[in-house]
Amino acid sequence: MDWLKDFAGRIEADAPLSRLTWFRLGGPARCLFHPHDADALAGALRRGREESVPVNVLGCGANILVRDDGFDGVVVRLDEPAFREVSVEGESVRAGGGVDMMPLSRGLSAKGLSGLEPMAGIPSSIGGAVRMNAGGRYGEIADVVEKVAVMNRDGSVEEWSREQAGFGYRRSAVGDRVVLWARFKLKEDDPRQVSQTYDEIFDQKMETQPLGDASAGCIFKNPPDASAGALIDKAGLKGATCGGASVSHRHANFIVTRQGATASDVLRLIDLIRETVRERWGTELETEIEIW
Ligand code: EPU
Repeated sequence: MDWLKDFAGRIEADAPLSRLTWFRLGGPARCLFHPHDADALAGALRRGREESVPVNVLGCGANILVRDDGFDGVVVRLDEPAFREVSVEGESVRAGGGVDMMPLSRGLSAKGLSGLEPMAGIPSSIGGAVRMNAGGRYGEIADVVEKVAVMNRDGSVEEWSREQAGFGYRRSAVGDRVVLWARFKLKEDDPRQVSQTYDEIFDQKMETQPLGDASAGCIFKNPPDASAGALIDKAGLKGATCGGASVSHRHANFIVTRQGATASDVLRLIDLIRETVRERWGTELETEIEIW
């Protein structure tokens, strides 16, 4: 993939992805590319398409399972400064797609800017959070999105209103486009109050979810009007194990792994859970995590 060298940015060949995902599993990427700026990103996306080489964007790796044989293509990381800018103007905050969401939401809460507290305890980049409409019981990112800039696979850029971004439960219209930045409309409030809410949401998650273990958060989307975690739990699957991967005892919609686990252990466990839940409850579970 010599053509990547035509674009400004750092290139790593045969780059292990396990160190970049929360599961700490899976094989290498043929190339890992850190574009210097939006032009370099546009060039790589366009060229990848022309050369029929798959190009995937990796955020903070919290919602991804990489297969053991790795990813035969280019993985892009938006970790250069051009993609990590944050600007605050009154109640309006613009953040680059590569910005780490948790420190951002914590920092804004401490400043008394309210709206991103529901993101406490959700590891994600801004791009990943917008694409998946990250959230939970306390709200989702779509609630505060005002504008999103996305790059298409031909390198062109569009700015979308919240309506155009097509948000739904854990989804958006982003698809295979790349989020360049998002602008949020927050509300000024008492910093102590907003920080306290942030901390409460964070603590509640720490109590109910195995955030200290190697996992990728919830594995399955909640089916309409039901909780995937409760269905898995009531099917008796807590602690169920395939190789080094187990259903968490703390929250049944999490799979935790121990050292030596492989991606195929996790995939076998996912199949076992889906089959058991289908047989027991007649419900088809859909994965929330992405499998590469
Ligand atoms: N439950 C069980 N057993 C379990 C887990 C949950 O019975 O092992 C029950 C709980 O007692 C509760 C219900 O299921 O009555 C719902 O559980 P919870 O409040 O933990 O929320 P959830 O629907 O399982 C969602 C998001 C989480 C988010 C939390 C909290 C999905 C798939 N999950 O979980 O998001 O952190 O709300 O806001 O939408 C993620 O997306 O990766 C994720 C972790």
